[in-house]
Amino acid sequence: MQHPGGAGHLVGVFDSGVGGLSVLKAIRRQRPDMDFTYIADSLYAPYGQRPPAFIEARAASIADALLQAGARIIVVACNTATAVAVEKLRARLPVPLIAMEPAIKPAVAHTRSGVVGVLATTRTLESANVARLCREFGHGVQVLLQPCPGLVERVEQGDLYSAATRDLLLQFTTPLLAKGVDTLVLGCTHYVFLTPLIRELVGEAVSIIESSEAVARHTLRHVEPVASAADVPRTRREIFLTTGVPGEVQAVFSQLWGAPVEVSALGGDHVGA
Ligand code: DGL
Repeated sequence: MQHPGGAGHLVGVFDSGVGGLSVLKAIRRQRPDMDFTYIADSLYAPYGQRPPAFIEARAASIADALLQAGARIIVVACNTATAVAVEKLRARLPVPLIAMEPAIKPAVAHTRSGVVGVLATTRTLESANVARLCREFGHGVQVLLQPCPGLVERVEQGDLYSAATRDLLLQFTTPLLAKGVDTLVLGCTHYVFLTPLIRELVGEAVSIIESSEAVARHTLRHVEPVASAADVPRTRREIFLTTGVPGEVQAVFSQLWGAPVEVSALGGDHVGA
């Protein structure tokens, strides 16, 4: 039986690395008693410049690992994996799949200048999904797609405020501001952790929009029906796993989570490329 008062161990969340913790934190803000398993595919992070077939294979393997860990709802807390692999994941998984996409629709509704900027990985911005979002919702608005190679690596290192991170970000934000962007979409879950620095660089007049709270709300709408039907053992409240070396990622996990966490190795078949 489910532990009284708890939400059970239902939700599995994954990303290429630590970025998806921004989504998991939003889930926890909205539902503090939510138990979860989080997998960071750290061995292969970042996904952003990798071939689509590689990302598809990794996303399938990690989703399978979450299923085996007992997840009844899977959150793809990664725009890149969603952009490349969401259809195949949906076809493969026997459980509800919650996925991310850059918040282009709300940004277009929000802009007053008529110019929206989207920061995301190369693979996300090249995807058919983003082309569809621009086609369907971008009418009358200029949507500027800005790939940000190298930025995920800064976050993976926990380097959120250094001069190097600042210089890199400036290369991406400066051209957007020059073109009159007043609304900036963070289309990568890693970039959410850079919000304070991005705010400093773009100023107060630019709105920064990202999807973690919306995705968390959407996830929680799926939790209740599954939770009431599930017989989920409650062992550990928070399970953090990595395909990398736990000792190498634990400090950054703790930094971004905002509390010390124990990260364990995901073993077995899910580690090989
Ligand atoms: N957090 C992933 C995303 O939202 C990062 C992509 C990457 O690993 O490059 O796209």
